[in-house]
Amino acid sequence: MLEKKIGLFFSYNSIIISGIELRNNIRKMDRKTYYIITIGCQMNKSDSERIAAYLEEYGFSLSEKREEADLVILVTCGIRQSAEDRIYGLIPQIKRDNKNAKIILTGCLSERPDVIKRVKDRVDIWLPIKELDSLADKLGLQKINEYSDYLDVVPRYESSFSAFVPIGNGCNNFCSYCVVPYARGREVYREVETIIGEVEDLIKAGYKEITLIAQNVNSYFAEFNGKNIDFADLLKMVNDLDGYFWLRFATSHPKDMSTKLIQTIARCKKVCEHVHLPAQAGDNDVLKAMNRRYTIEHYKGLINKICEEFKEQKPDALPVSLTTDIIVGFPGEIEEQFEKTVELFKEVKYDVAYVAQYSPRYGTVSAKMEDNVSAEEKKRREDKLMCILEKTLAENNKPYLGKKVEVIFESIDKKHGNMIAKMRTAKIVKLPNVNDEKLIGKFGKVKINKIDDFGFVGEIVN
Ligand code: SAH
Ligand code: SF4
Ligand code: F3S
Repeated sequence: MLEKKIGLFFSYNSIIISGIELRNNIRKMDRKTYYIITIGCQMNKSDSERIAAYLEEYGFSLSEKREEADLVILVTCGIRQSAEDRIYGLIPQIKRDNKNAKIILTGCLSERPDVIKRVKDRVDIWLPIKELDSLADKLGLQKINEYSDYLDVVPRYESSFSAFVPIGNGCNNFCSYCVVPYARGREVYREVETIIGEVEDLIKAGYKEITLIAQNVNSYFAEFNGKNIDFADLLKMVNDLDGYFWLRFATSHPKDMSTKLIQTIARCKKVCEHVHLPAQAGDNDVLKAMNRRYTIEHYKGLINKICEEFKEQKPDALPVSLTTDIIVGFPGEIEEQFEKTVELFKEVKYDVAYVAQYSPRYGTVSAKMEDNVSAEEKKRREDKLMCILEKTLAENNKPYLGKKVEVIFESIDKKHGNMIAKMRTAKIVKLPNVNDEKLIGKFGKVKINKIDDFGFVGEIVN
């Protein structure tokens, strides 16, 4: 993993560099098969679920092994050089291990001219994700359904109890370092009815955790019944649906975090006590050069408001868990400016931070600036932040001791004989000697007995 994580959190915001490789239990030998490798964020993970469903409409089934699949689909990410390099490493490996496979390249590298030039001879089909519906034609298959929006494909969700629901796609913000607006285009939001419909279907199917996703969830807008709807309205509408489930969202931009939204987050019972708010840097001049369009004072004000609202609205709940994204070593970031990020960490006391060393990205504004912070210095800055995080996390974890908390049972660590469960604050607890598969995907109550290197150790209680 590229991101450094302290404490084992449910990392739904993390970039999955190792790749999600969808598994299949029901292998049908007579069918053409596919295998999906997903690199990148939750948006790519969600896209992979739609690609899988689309292919299954055309009779394909999932292959257990990349070496045996007829189609290998690469869902790519270009956020950092390391994510991109994974693809350059994977393509020759796939071709070597499976000469007959067709390689389909989609995701955030699929429209980059330099990438196309570099690997065009080894990729069989280029598939910008918005053109998913052209895949049947590209494979020479008779069209079954027509999708004007690829998000209308009903996904083959990877989990049976937790689902990502995209509320839109794209980004209008053009942070100077970021490739997403080029890779995903401008913001396009889904209709309220479509989002609500997808969530209702998931709830009916027994899903316990819904995460609304977009590059900037909080700039969501739509019209519904003649009214303008923003993200706060949408969140409340989803929260008010029948049934009990946990509700999360990612990612929010600080410039679009309104007081109305903060109040809604804190007031809605199903919305979990976890807010991910990427700061990126602690210094105003760096933030300006990043084109983030907020000051650090504004950011800290938002954090204070979030903590206060949660305390007021959910006085009995554990304190809201705060997480962030940071870039160290942005072009021109001097020591004194980096120290402002250190200050921010000491003040906010994050639970998790995804600290990335700056990497210039093709076509972005900052790629034209001199990448003048050395690799060693970037690493030193990253380590310094992680060190603070370790301490603040230990401090933040203390109030959990002895508490009874609601969890979702997520998986069984067969090697150690533990059940792994997740709390509303996105923290993970290990339950020794619990290995009942039937619990997976259910809600339960756990008492926190201990804090260890893993995070928490607990037991099931009534
Ligand atoms: N839309 C989200 C984040 C999307 S990208 C937001 O605005 O917060 C996820 C994270 O990757 C970013 O928050 C940033 O910290 C990191 N990132 C993006 N471009 C980067 C680059 N060129 N170098 C290093 N990290 C980068
Ligand atoms: Fe990238 Fe900025 Fe858009 Fe986030 S808000 S996706 S960091 S351009
Ligand atoms: Fe990567 Fe694209 Fe997501 S560049 S972070 S996969 S939006």
